[in-house]
Amino acid sequence: MNRSLTSAPWVVALALASLLLLALVPVRAQRQQSQAPRGPWMDQSLLPDQRADLVIAQMTLDEKISLVHGAGGFGESGPRSNGGAGMISGVPRLGLPDVQLADSAVGVRAAAERGRYATLLPSTLAEAATWDLNLAREYGALIGRELRDQQYNATLGGGVDLMREPRNGRNFEYHGEDPILAGKMVAQLIQGLREQKVIADTKHYAFNDQETGRNIGNVKLGRRVMRETDLLAFEIAVTEGQPGMVMCSYNKVNSDWACENSYLLNDVLKKTWGFKGFVLSDWGGTHSAAKAALAGLDNEEPGSRFFGDELKKAVESGVVPMVRLNDMVHRIVRSEFASGIVDDPPKGRVVDPFRGAETAQTIAENASVLLKNANNQLPLRATAVKSIAVIGAHADTSVLSGGGSAQVDPPGGGPSQFGGPPVWFPSSPLKAIRAQAPAAKVEFSDGADPATAASLAKASEVAIVFVNQPTSEGGDLPTLTLPDRQDQLVTAVAAANPRTIVVLETGGPAAMPWIGQVSAAIEIWYPGIRGAEALARILFGGVNPSAKLPVTFAKSDADLPHPKVPGIDLLPPPGAGRGVRGRMPDFNIDYTEGLKVGYKWFDAENKEPLFAFGYGLSYTTFAYSGLRAAMDSVSFTVRNTGRRAGAEIAQVYVGLPPAANEPPKRLVAWEKVSLDPGQSKTVTLRLEPKFLSIFNEQTDDWELPAGAYTFSVGGSSRQTPLSAAVNH
Ligand code: NOJ
Repeated sequence: MNRSLTSAPWVVALALASLLLLALVPVRAQRQQSQAPRGPWMDQSLLPDQRADLVIAQMTLDEKISLVHGAGGFGESGPRSNGGAGMISGVPRLGLPDVQLADSAVGVRAAAERGRYATLLPSTLAEAATWDLNLAREYGALIGRELRDQQYNATLGGGVDLMREPRNGRNFEYHGEDPILAGKMVAQLIQGLREQKVIADTKHYAFNDQETGRNIGNVKLGRRVMRETDLLAFEIAVTEGQPGMVMCSYNKVNSDWACENSYLLNDVLKKTWGFKGFVLSDWGGTHSAAKAALAGLDNEEPGSRFFGDELKKAVESGVVPMVRLNDMVHRIVRSEFASGIVDDPPKGRVVDPFRGAETAQTIAENASVLLKNANNQLPLRATAVKSIAVIGAHADTSVLSGGGSAQVDPPGGGPSQFGGPPVWFPSSPLKAIRAQAPAAKVEFSDGADPATAASLAKASEVAIVFVNQPTSEGGDLPTLTLPDRQDQLVTAVAAANPRTIVVLETGGPAAMPWIGQVSAAIEIWYPGIRGAEALARILFGGVNPSAKLPVTFAKSDADLPHPKVPGIDLLPPPGAGRGVRGRMPDFNIDYTEGLKVGYKWFDAENKEPLFAFGYGLSYTTFAYSGLRAAMDSVSFTVRNTGRRAGAEIAQVYVGLPPAANEPPKRLVAWEKVSLDPGQSKTVTLRLEPKFLSIFNEQTDDWELPAGAYTFSVGGSSRQTPLSAAVNH
């Protein structure tokens, strides 16, 4: 029966018809999809550059112009804005999404305005203090994840201006004073962001090394100095991190605004380093249409003052060639394809605060630098200590965060105001210490009255004093001295109790005139949402500190290259727009220290720092031996000579031949080595030739001068037990 049925002619016809129908289904589905953009540029097997060319060929002039400027900052762009610092309008008919730009230097900014939550990480300066490339990557990945969770597809972060000015209000969102450490760390941070499929950036290109007069200051530096200092950090960030965007800075460099500086943008960034992404201006940092476009600026933010109608006219009249506009658009669209935001746009999810807290705590535990530990006072023994005085403003409730566009909103708090008071995050040192020492009597004094604090300290076995140094974008610190007479508080407490431990929450270095009077000190920076918990684990030995300073701590302002922040005396009085847009006269920022940034200054000038670059203690000790050095690699052995497991950040410095005219030494490599008691490891580190080179202005290239190179290896820039000379 079956046979006869299947062989019947009408059955065959039916089968053929249904086959035809089946064949039509995909056609229909395809048609439906073709209403959504399915141009050849959506072919994921093509390279981002090919896709960019294909889509640009379809664009009108107005569409091109719409891509090279922002659609308004901070929600001005209307209902399509996701609430971030800016937005670049997409081209929906071509399938190009809006680029939602969010400040996110240390966590996603301004989440609270939309009822959202974002993790506050330790400052990036703290991240730099870990010297740990994997943690830097995790740092970026966490921000990338939380950006996408909140439906942002681009970050504004990755700050890597060098710490020429230790009082710079933004040091907390940069990576310290050494170009190689800073560059390597931020490159990993950028990689972490990119892994999460957001457009990553680095900023502020370049030499925005202070906030004082940042909108008018003219930084004057020679090309060799530029290439070997701040620009080396950016070079590593760009070539190793491969960000999709570079933000040019507010200041001038050698008389041209950074955002229309052809040397910085065209010659160095794009031609020499091969940067393929786009340059966007800092907010309001664009000063012209044709000049800026021809100098290499690709996108004006946050609006269209210059890169809207004015640029369009310049293109129509041929002042700015169409090929240049196409290049600008190409760079932007290319970054969109390369980042993955076109093929895999963020879908939005609830941020996972627990995962964020865990990452923040791990980084804080690896970022806190033990500066002093007389008589091995630390770690405290929870079972032995009977009473602890916890002293200092906010130490009962919270930890400090950095202000400005890097400000993250605290859970339970409202949106924070730019330029508003310092924001404290709910991570309670008092509670965290109590949790570690449940049998001890732990009491609190806010330290407002040093005498009250001192009497509590006197009645306690141990005193832990928390001092802080709030900093923010928009202004610099007048001095390294801690504000609010906190030095007096520490002195009073230390006089009352010989077992005084100072905990510093600072944006960068601080002076410590009392260091000789206290028994221990630990720098925790702005430590993030689990800062107190991380600190408590270190205080009680659950974690053995391993971090090293990514900056030099000077004894006082007088020892710095500039005893005062350049231009600070020209500032209008408070209230008149201090620092950012005040009526300050135009002025030059003469960074006369040149190559001698940070430790290079202290070494060259024979000045004793308070704490040297690369310095940091552990609860165990390490010994170095067996150095073998060559121009392309070094190897040596590190041994844990103490009784605890710990990690040592072993550092390799090189002194160039005297004819090179360089500061005495520079960091060229490092490795974080984890060791059990008694264990030793031999480390071999490859050296990158550029890091041993100098920049020759005549040949516009790097060169390795001939002569004797001195290699030194150890646990800080001032403690290098191993050394060897190599002739080149
Ligand atoms: C100005 C800051 O300098 C920059 O870092 C930030 O990304 C923008 N404002 C946007 O908020």
